[in-house]
Amino acid sequence: MNSKIQILPSLLGADLGDLRGGIRLAEQAGADALHIDIMDPHFVPNMSFGPSVVKLSRETCPNLYRNVHLMMLRPDLYLKPFAEAGAQTIQIHVEANCDVGNTLIRIRELGLRPAIAINPETPVERLKEFLGIVDEVLVMTVHPGFGAQQFIGECLDKVKYIRDRQPQIDVMVDGGVNGETAPLCIQAGVNMLVSGSYLYKQPDMAKAVEAMRHG
Ligand code: DX5
Ligand code: ZN
Repeated sequence: MNSKIQILPSLLGADLGDLRGGIRLAEQAGADALHIDIMDPHFVPNMSFGPSVVKLSRETCPNLYRNVHLMMLRPDLYLKPFAEAGAQTIQIHVEANCDVGNTLIRIRELGLRPAIAINPETPVERLKEFLGIVDEVLVMTVHPGFGAQQFIGECLDKVKYIRDRQPQIDVMVDGGVNGETAPLCIQAGVNMLVSGSYLYKQPDMAKAVEAMRHG
């Protein structure tokens, strides 16, 4: 686990008419990585980006780390296109309709960092069998599918379960993270924060990233 708090702007919160500008803004603000949300409408009631946006991110800011969140029913079928596009961490959901353990192993075999994500309504015990084979756990703090939703505080109870079993693992939150909710996440033991609509609407993203990092 990296002891420094990492901040990841979510590209979904950027101006969709200027994705290159949104990617550059994250890099210039000193973000630790860019969070790229990939949705399929069978897993969430929405659609977003595909591998081409991951590629755009690599072309625009090659040194900005690409954290790719697959909100997909069958992430196992799309690992290669995302790896080829430049994904560096791939997060898949424990609720996906595939062999989750095997898919995580394949992510590592592709030379990428495997991570497991969990939705608010899913019991944390479902993570147990995967905690030993991932580098990162993503605790969703909203129901996935849309940016700018309200933070669900009870989801933070999951962090203790994860930390008790894997003290060194990276624990990330995603959804409704802003200047007020970020300190609660850090207090709960989270060390990576995704923030979309909040960071992208700041007049000075660099200042907001620094403030969030220091709780
Ligand atoms: C939600 C996505 C999030 C989203 C967060 O389905 O996984 O990454 O962009 O947006 P905010 O920070 O606006 O809640
Ligand atoms: Zn996300």
